[in-house]
Amino acid sequence: MQFDLLLKSGTVVTETESRQADVGIKDGKIVAIDSTLDGEATEVIDVSGRLVLPGGIDSHVHISQPSGDGIAMADDFESGTRSALFGGNTTIMPFCLQERDGDLRSAINWYHGLAENQLYTDVAFHLIVANPSPGVLGQELPAAIKDGYTSIKVFMTYENLRLNDAELLATFDVAREHGATMMIHCENEDAIRFLVERHEANGDIRPRAHASTRPIPVEREATHRALSLAEIVDLPIVIVHVSNAAATEEIRRARARGMKVTAETCPQYLVLTEDDLDGMDWEGAKFVCSPPPRNTEEQAACWEGLTDGTFDLFSSDHCPFRYEGTDGKMNPKGAKNFRYIPNGIPGVETRLPILFSEGVGKGRINLQQFVALTATNHAKTYGLFPRKGTIAVGSDADIAIWDPDLTRTVTHDGLHDGADYSPYEGMTLTGWPTTVVLRGKVMVRDDVLEGELGDGQYLSR
Ligand code: URP
Ligand code: ZN
Ligand code: ZN
Ligand code: ZN
Repeated sequence: MQFDLLLKSGTVVTETESRQADVGIKDGKIVAIDSTLDGEATEVIDVSGRLVLPGGIDSHVHISQPSGDGIAMADDFESGTRSALFGGNTTIMPFCLQERDGDLRSAINWYHGLAENQLYTDVAFHLIVANPSPGVLGQELPAAIKDGYTSIKVFMTYENLRLNDAELLATFDVAREHGATMMIHCENEDAIRFLVERHEANGDIRPRAHASTRPIPVEREATHRALSLAEIVDLPIVIVHVSNAAATEEIRRARARGMKVTAETCPQYLVLTEDDLDGMDWEGAKFVCSPPPRNTEEQAACWEGLTDGTFDLFSSDHCPFRYEGTDGKMNPKGAKNFRYIPNGIPGVETRLPILFSEGVGKGRINLQQFVALTATNHAKTYGLFPRKGTIAVGSDADIAIWDPDLTRTVTHDGLHDGADYSPYEGMTLTGWPTTVVLRGKVMVRDDVLEGELGDGQYLSR
């Protein structure tokens, strides 16, 4: 056989097995996997002692997403996909947001314009429906689903994005009718507003108040309600960024009564806590995201959900804002009141090393679970499997080569995103991706960028 690229003597991992094998690649696809492959290859890389994993798929990433307050995200497609790539990812899925007063089609066209020739990884877009008007639900959304935008996020929180129960039901019903996958951000906005007003009245406006105004019942109730509304219209749903035991329990119960639910958690709920929001000099703002990080007990519950298979997806919810400057976490309003701190933290590059080191390294999950949680299940959930998310003959040659023994301490200087800090600064992690292959092309080789902007493609679904 004739290969463009031959990965020799690595440990190839899929969701079902690990084995010593060579991987042969031709025209961007995996064409052979065997204990020894002989044949001519344009390039051979010796990967003995390394893990050969499917490139990560991060199906929950925010890039260049407009926010109501005009504060710009720290990553555009160039920096966001570059950072993802160095973190061992070959596909990311950001959100194309319909603004409250805008239509879907122009949002989609605008977002494609931003991504064009600006990609280091492959991408596919989810939609966010913020205004399910009759025109959107009757025409625009069905047309978009037909065009391959087959996953849609809706919010139960954020003043300018949240849908009420009637709107949720109507949107769910369209998703069911047209076969789209619904992702739901579960937090009760009215309860949050009530608590925010009470905190403000008491003069409690530090970053920590972000966590105390979004306590666990806020998330548990909304999770329960989202599941119930979905059950009423018989719609399978994805509950995104689950942060605690009680919400996890709601998901288990829904499954036990026969609902099809996909569940996601994120690194911030495993390794950060609400105490991080207490930092001096407003440093706590660096950890403001929704739902907020909880405590060590809830962290343990999230780990348990990963270990026992309650969670299908492990995503970053990368939503980067700069800390310094007038256009970030420290914006003039934000520096006085937690309400104005933009919500979200960077993490697309640290997602995989955190789960590898804390999960695989500490015996909480095995390599098969790692691959399923970080790649395979994302591809299956969002219509990209088996083209993406596995190492198999016929799949795209999207591969991350890991050094399982490499120990590094996270510093923002060592990352490649557009923010100016990492919430995981100072964490020492063992196991890092060092070489990343996208559709057969070596994009990162031994930590050095070789790929070019524009090598990534938009994935039609
Ligand atoms: O705080 C967060 N998570 N911001 C990103 C938007 C979202 O809710 O996923
Ligand atoms: Zn969300
Ligand atoms: Zn309930
Ligand atoms: Zn998000």
